[in-house]
Amino acid sequence: MLITRRERFSSSHRLYREDWSEEKNFEIFDKCSNLHGHNYELFITVQGTVNKETGFVVNLKELSRVVKQNIIEKLDHKNLNTDVDFLKNTIVTSENIAIAIWGNIETKIIELGVELYCIKLVETENNFIEYYGNKHK
Ligand code: NI
Repeated sequence: MLITRRERFSSSHRLYREDWSEEKNFEIFDKCSNLHGHNYELFITVQGTVNKETGFVVNLKELSRVVKQNIIEKLDHKNLNTDVDFLKNTIVTSENIAIAIWGNIETKIIELGVELYCIKLVETENNFIEYYGNKHK
């Protein structure tokens, strides 16, 4: 069974490559090459079986605590380009943020007795990505 916890964070970022000129950055990333912010929604979906004793796949309070400690506290009200250890040297697109979140949280999810199944990151109401780990690209 799959179960999902939603968390939210607000961060600033710009899409930019140091090795490209201002013109090239603007050509590829357009206005996103300027510093701006998003109110992100992060959906962490885990997979497991229903524990007969508790009726839970996972205790959502524990899942929420793990996500908050390892992800939200590190991203919320931060500049994603400069303030986050696990995003250093990445272009902070939703795609790359989701991959980095996966890498930063997968073992902690396993410690809760379930598997990480999907990370969905909603950047705007029209733009969101879903990442299912390496095995699904
Ligand atoms: Ni943006």
